[in-house]
Amino acid sequence: MSIDTNMSQQIATITINNPDRLNALDANHLEGLLEAFRATAGDASVRAIILTGAGETAFVAGADIKEMSTMSPEEAMRFGRLGHAVGSAIERTPQPVIAAINGFALGGGCELALACDIRICSTNAVFAQPEVGLGIPPGWGGTQRLPRTVGKGIASDLIFTGRRIRADEALRIGLVNAVHEQDSLMEHASVMAREIAGNSPAAVRLSKRLIARSQDAHPSSGLAEEAHGFAEAFGMHDQQEGMSAFFEKRKPVFENEPHLELEGDA
Ligand code: CAA
Repeated sequence: MSIDTNMSQQIATITINNPDRLNALDANHLEGLLEAFRATAGDASVRAIILTGAGETAFVAGADIKEMSTMSPEEAMRFGRLGHAVGSAIERTPQPVIAAINGFALGGGCELALACDIRICSTNAVFAQPEVGLGIPPGWGGTQRLPRTVGKGIASDLIFTGRRIRADEALRIGLVNAVHEQDSLMEHASVMAREIAGNSPAAVRLSKRLIARSQDAHPSSGLAEEAHGFAEAFGMHDQQEGMSAFFEKRKPVFENEPHLELEGDA
């Protein structure tokens, strides 16, 4: 198994590569994912990130049940926190992260996708939080991010029953933004990533930071931060360039940001 990062046209594609085990994640590979997100976060030439799974069956079929089966409560605490660290790294990565969900997204796989900014999936995708059937609750953020994404009632249904849902239901409840044929999923993800990459990286980063505040701040403090973020952009090259290009009827040439890191790591 490996975590592969491929760079093309300012877009990093991170692939979880263990299709024989349906890309189930153990602690070593969670560390690998963390490292991959740290590296892409710090690479100023990367303007958008796509996260996907290798093969045509699974995005990620969850945490590695074999590894979990012998864990003590202390080990489970470390494992859960490692999953949380990966979720936070995705959220704190300055570039937008698109989950291209190419099959099963179960348990930790669904939770990993929930940490991404945008989710699109293939027609064969299947989602579930089946943990309660294994005698555990979700442990990589599902109890927190699923209710924020689909609402408390639907999240409670999915978590308490553990039932599997298909792509059409995932679309209907707002778990994914769009559903595509398997063979065009990555192309759709790339088109979206390239569209993002054509915009001002500084403005996209500020927008991602401000959208994150909508999840945990009171609206009035979120708006106060938005006012600061809006003002901050006016001290930057890209605002001058974007507005000049509008009047000169040409495409703007935006700057890569000089120094990037995981938000909050400074
Ligand atoms: N952990 C470890 N191994 C896994 C796995 C997982 N989560 N999911 C699949 N595998 C392995 C299988 O054991 C199997 O290995 P072998 O060939 O060595 O037997 C291989 O991947 C292929 O899987 P199947 O033969 O089961 O394939 P299938 O097509 O018959 O079924 C499936 C596919 C429905 C996804 C089934 O594999 C399955 O139910 N997997 C487990 C899903 C799950 O419960 N995930 C949640 C885990 S708990 C969690 O994630 C906790 C958390 O919140 C962090």
